Amino acid sequence: MQTLQTTSLQVRDNQLWILDQQALPQQKNWLPAHSVAQLVEHIHALRVRGAPLIGLSASLLLALLAEQGQTQRQLAESLAILRAARPTAVNLMNNLDRMKQALAQPAFATALAEEAWRLVEEDKQLCEAIATAGSALVKPGSQLLTHCNTGGLATAGVGTALGVIVRAHQQGRINNVWVDETRPLLQGGRLTAWELGELAVPYTLITDSMAASLMATKQVDAVWVGADRIAANGDVANKIGTYSLAVLAHYHQIPFYVAAPHTTLDRGCPNGEAIPIEQRAASEVTGVAGSFGSVQWAPEAANVYNPAFDVTPAALISGWVLDTGVVTPEQVQAGIFQPQ
Ligand code: MRU
Repeated sequence: MQTLQTTSLQVRDNQLWILDQQALPQQKNWLPAHSVAQLVEHIHALRVRGAPLIGLSASLLLALLAEQGQTQRQLAESLAILRAARPTAVNLMNNLDRMKQALAQPAFATALAEEAWRLVEEDKQLCEAIATAGSALVKPGSQLLTHCNTGGLATAGVGTALGVIVRAHQQGRINNVWVDETRPLLQGGRLTAWELGELAVPYTLITDSMAASLMATKQVDAVWVGADRIAANGDVANKIGTYSLAVLAHYHQIPFYVAAPHTTLDRGCPNGEAIPIEQRAASEVTGVAGSFGSVQWAPEAANVYNPAFDVTPAALISGWVLDTGVVTPEQVQAGIFQPQ
């Protein structure tokens, strides 16, 4: 397969490599993701993360395994294992359903390579289209707040919500980006802060609990987040803490935008209650770990609740910024995301 270089994925020497997002920003380590077991382990550990990126990494690995001679049956097994690697982000399932169709063709190795490549190229274009549609909503002099990481690390392109923010910065409309640290795994504090710094976008890091007082003192003009799954009624699953921000934004009458590609839409899922929410290890809440080492501060026996995502009801969302354009609350109420 031809070589590929995105912010956090590489194909070289006919193998897949991933940028370890758990080691960033202190270390930039490219790790092998040469087997299904390796990639699944990286996905579980969030070394590869972000809804679009998970789907793309799984698709590329399948194509490479086909090139290395795996049979149709072996590939079908690999696909099933990869499809179950994380439950909430629907991009993984959507991408692999397309790869499954390619796998069913007689010249499946070529078809898989072509489909994986198409998915990567499409993702770049989807990000561009989202950035174009979303940046038009950003007013000059804006102070925006974002949560988790939705940038080039999480996609093959410029990102979703963060792509909008970066584009708006390039257009001279950003005064400051408030970056939620995003407990427990600190995707904001480690990854978004790093990406914005690299792109020279002015940002200020905050702990998640600081958003309310910033809004109350009129220091936030809009909130921009990504999505892991958008249900047919417009409810959105995204990183834990997104719902709190939506409630706060609603109370303070601040626009709350969700930016995502159409590959994040799940028309078969009626509402947020039907979205499977990943539960994660207690150790992520009782302490913190990264390239800086690990520390535990809670008692060993503490009971812990650690859902990786929450659901924001459609009623709290001001606009769904997709690659196809901005979808309004009225359009969602009229059923634009419902199965056609
Ligand atoms: O657990 P993560 O880091 O994979 O969660 C990521 C998010 O919630 C993102 O907001 C979402 O996947 C969109 S990434 C463009």
